[in-house]
Amino acid sequence: MVKAQLIDATKGLTPEQLQELGSALRDGALVVFPTETVYGIGADGMSSRAVQRIFQAKGRPQDNPVILHIAHPAMVPLVAKELPPVGDALIKKFWPGPLTLVLAKNDAVPAEVSAGLGTVALRMPDHPVALAIIQAAGVPLAAPSANTSGKPSPTDAFHAAQDLSEEVEYIVDGGPCRVGVESTVVDLTVYPPVILRHGAVTAEMLEEYGVVTPSAKELKALQHRSPGMRHRHYAPQGESWLFCLPEASLPGAIAQTAKDYLQQGKRVALLVTSDTKALLPEFTEVVLVFELGSRQDPRTIAANIFRCLRQCDQLSAEIILIEGITEAGLGKAISDRLRRACQGRVIDKE
Ligand code: TXA
Ligand code: MG
Repeated sequence: MVKAQLIDATKGLTPEQLQELGSALRDGALVVFPTETVYGIGADGMSSRAVQRIFQAKGRPQDNPVILHIAHPAMVPLVAKELPPVGDALIKKFWPGPLTLVLAKNDAVPAEVSAGLGTVALRMPDHPVALAIIQAAGVPLAAPSANTSGKPSPTDAFHAAQDLSEEVEYIVDGGPCRVGVESTVVDLTVYPPVILRHGAVTAEMLEEYGVVTPSAKELKALQHRSPGMRHRHYAPQGESWLFCLPEASLPGAIAQTAKDYLQQGKRVALLVTSDTKALLPEFTEVVLVFELGSRQDPRTIAANIFRCLRQCDQLSAEIILIEGITEAGLGKAISDRLRRACQGRVIDKE
C-alpha cells in the first residue's frame, strides 16, 4: 500500500516537479494526471510491469486494453505499425483532443496494453499538464480513467483520490476536467472506420472522414475489438433509472416515481436538466436534486454527469432517477454513459 503524494498543478508544474514525475514514471510509478476529458492513472506504457500495476490498482479486468497517451503525433510510429491516410487527416484536425485512434500495433507495445489484441489505442490529450508529464517521462503513458473499475470516471483530483490514493505514488491536481466524458474511440483497422465509443468528437464531426457509427447489432459483433464496452461501467451504488420520455410528460413521470419511492421510505436523488427542474413540484420529503445543466447546453451536462453520479454515492442515494438526453452530437456520448450507469433500467414508455 502506498500513500499518494498530492501535487497542485492548477497553475502548472515546475521543472523540478516534472523531472521528479518523469523519473518516477520511468521507474515504474503510477501517476494520476488530468486530461481534458477525465483524469487518467498513468504508467510507463512500454513496461509490462508498470502497466500490470494499473490493472491491479483499478481492479480492471485483464481483457480490457488501455489507451497510450502521447505528447506529439511524431510519437505514433513508436507504437503503431502504420497510420492510414484517414488517420493522418483525423490527427491534423482533432489532435490534441478527445479522439483516440485504434491502429495496428508494433512489437514494442506490451501485451498488457493491448490485452492480447493486435491493435493499440492512441491519443494526444489537449491538456498542458498531461502533455508536460508525458514529455517529462519521454515514453507513451498507458492511462485508463483513474477510477476503481466499474465506478464513474473522475473529473477532478478528489474523485481520483477517493478511489486510488492508496494505490498510486502521485496524484497531480489540475482542477476540474473541461470535457467530462472520455474520448471518442475510432477503430481505423477496419473498413470503413467505426466509432467504438462516443465522445466529444462527435459522429457528426467524423462523418466527413468516412467514419461510421455501428448499429447496436454491429457494435455487439465488434465487441471483441473493444472489450471494455462489455464490462460494467459508471454504476452508482443506488438503483438508477433513465427516463427517456417526451419533454411534455417527463417532469410528471419523474415526480410521480420519486413520490412512490419516497413513500417506501427510500432516499431518492434526481439528476435532471435545469429545464425539467423548473417544472418539478416542491417535495415535502427529502429529495436530492442535481442539476445537470440546460438542455440547450450539452457541454455543461457532459462536464457534470460523473460528478453528480459520485455525489449520489456520497449522499447514499438509494434510488436515482435520471433524465435522458437527446441522442445527437455530444448527447450520444452523454446518453451512452447514462445508459450504462442505469444498466438497462430505462423507462421509455408512458
Ligand atoms: O478520455 C479518455 O480516453 C480517458 C483519458 C484518461 O484519456 N481514458 C479512458 O481510458 O477513458 P479507459 O481505459 O477508461 O477506456 C479506454 C477504452 C476502453 O473502452 C477500451 O476497451 C478501449 O478504449 N480500447 C483501448 N485499447 C483498445 C484497442 N486496442 N482496441 C479497441 N479498443 C480499445
Ligand atoms: Mg474507464
